[in-house]
Amino acid sequence: MKAIVQERYGSPDDLELREVEKPVVGDDDVLVRVRAASIHPDVWHVVNGQPYVLRLMGAGFFRPKNPIPGTDMAGIVECVGKGVTRFRAGDPVFGETIAAHQWINGGAFAEYVSVRQDLLAPKPDNITFEQAASVPTSGYIALQNLRDWRRLRPGRTVLINGAGGGVGTLTLQIAKACGAHVTAVDSAGKLAMLRSLGADELIDFTQVDFTRRGVRYDLIFDVPGNRPFSACRRALKSDGRYVLIGHERFGASGKRVFGGIPYFLMLIFLSRFVKQLRGPCIPMPTKKEAMAVLRELLEAGKITPVIDSIYRLSEAREAFRHMIEDDIQGKVIITICPVLNR
Ligand SMILES: NC(=O)c1ccc[n+]([C@@H]2O[C@H](COP(=O)([O-])OP(=O)(O)OC[C@H]3O[C@@H](n4cnc5c(N)ncnc54)[C@H](OP(=O)(O)O)[C@@H]3O)[C@@H](O)[C@H]2O)c1
Repeated sequence: MKAIVQERYGSPDDLELREVEKPVVGDDDVLVRVRAASIHPDVWHVVNGQPYVLRLMGAGFFRPKNPIPGTDMAGIVECVGKGVTRFRAGDPVFGETIAAHQWINGGAFAEYVSVRQDLLAPKPDNITFEQAASVPTSGYIALQNLRDWRRLRPGRTVLINGAGGGVGTLTLQIAKACGAHVTAVDSAGKLAMLRSLGADELIDFTQVDFTRRGVRYDLIFDVPGNRPFSACRRALKSDGRYVLIGHERFGASGKRVFGGIPYFLMLIFLSRFVKQLRGPCIPMPTKKEAMAVLRELLEAGKITPVIDSIYRLSEAREAFRHMIEDDIQGKVIITICPVLNR
């Protein structure tokens, strides 16, 4: 099969289109003929090999253990292992190809990928393969960090910093589906798109510092984490909640060894004294649970994935460069079997 192969950590220039063996299908696995895959910042982290700690977390010390990048895809089931009960050949599916955290290659940038059945859900009929491929990781991060649903009742006020990216566009729509009043913060070029997704108020971060407006929110969902918690606290109600997602700005944050991990640990420590911060014991949804919720929201039309652009598998380098260098709106997609994608 054709696949994008990464022999070493480096830059998008180290990615090559090659012929490789088709993956082996285990008893509990589903072999998917991939029709579309998406890129997100964590895929870039593994291509780049930074922060270095990811190499100790399973990605591979000197070189990637799995040479094929990509974790999010949608496609058609080709065949299933003998223990698979939920899917059969011909089913359209979507999901994440990795079970653990996102800092590991998942083999999605290929014509075929073998995936554990628990990580997949049936693809809703009302969205395209490209849209379906854009959702799994970003949707999981959104749901995992909105686990505290209590704060998303009608009447609750939510500010999403970095609302125009992969995680933000889904978080905005989930918060609106729960009836919350949403303020979306991003650059000027994305505000019209954010309005169309249902944002009630818009802030251009290049013009206005949301921490200095004198407005307080029930929940601040902070993707870039570009201001310290002490500043964000000015915009939080006393019983509000601050949730940091964290973004390394494709290396520009300079945190090459541990990334944002030390800051996350400090916030967890502070949560013992500051009730606006989450402690370490927040229950997390499993990926199977998250995929079921996302499928339901997609099928009901409550979330509509935003696609920035679509590239062919052979254009993977260009797709990465576009994500890293340009202001993108939503997700960058790679089509794997364009002939089938009509
Ligand atoms: N906490 C967790 O549970 C968890 C788990 C896994 C992964 N992650 C992390 O989550 C992140 C996912 O982000 P994503 O996929 O949504 O990234 P994304 O698509 O790159 O979106 C980030 C958005 O933030 C905007 N932005 C940049 N600087 C800003 C500022 N100063 N103020 C307001 N907005 C700003 C960006 O605009 P421009 O495009 O104009 O820069 C972009 O619209 C990744 O970095 C990943 O490593 C978190």
